[in-house]
Amino acid sequence: MTGRLVVGITGASGAIYADRFVRRAANHYNRIHLIVTDQAVEVFSTELCRDVSKANLSVQSLFGQNVQNVELVQQNQFFTPPASGSYACDGMVIVPCSMGTLGRIANGISNDLMTRAADVALKESRKLILVPRESPLNLIMVRNMAAVIEAGATLIPAMPAWYHRPSNLDELADTVVARIFQHLDLPREFAPEWMV
Ligand SMILES: Cc1cc2nc3c(=O)[nH]c(=O)nc-3n(C[C@H](O)[C@H](O)[C@H](O)COP(=O)(O)O)c2cc1C
Repeated sequence: MTGRLVVGITGASGAIYADRFVRRAANHYNRIHLIVTDQAVEVFSTELCRDVSKANLSVQSLFGQNVQNVELVQQNQFFTPPASGSYACDGMVIVPCSMGTLGRIANGISNDLMTRAADVALKESRKLILVPRESPLNLIMVRNMAAVIEAGATLIPAMPAWYHRPSNLDELADTVVARIFQHLDLPREFAPEWMV
């Protein structure tokens, strides 16, 4: 374990998952490289009612407070550690992951830092966890999902579970965040395992 993680946030619906994941993950890594797409900023602002825009984008504006160990890197900045396989890290999580970004990863179109870092995770046989959200799915999307799984990625769809009877939206969202934690080998005490 290197204590380093790359995290991407795209413009799929589900900013709550990113918000809750990053805050918690920051307690477990020394360095989180955070890549946020332009469209993710818009969705974050809309869904979480945050005062965040491309003009004022920062960890503070995204999360409403500073989050330790999280460094924002520009989506179009390749001169940064996540762009290279020579930089050791524990992998990458994209939460939520749009079908656009998933399709670019599936087809090797690494035209920005998000897709390049995902490419790097796959070529270096590191964890690449994608949390897609779309409904309904077309055949192209399903084929792209199959392609990234075949290439070594793990797909954790943003499909919250109800069997723990969540009492609010945060608890519901945490059923997805907990599955990401589980696949990063992190403790998931905030959302208990079934029947434990
Ligand atoms: C409010 C809103 C919700 C969206 N939700 C989704 C979604 O759930 N899944 C998805 O794949 N795209 C969704 N989109 C479309 C993406 O934002 C769009 O495809 C964008 O190009 C993705 O770019 P990115 O992958 O660079 O973030 C949504 C767009 C908006 C404005």
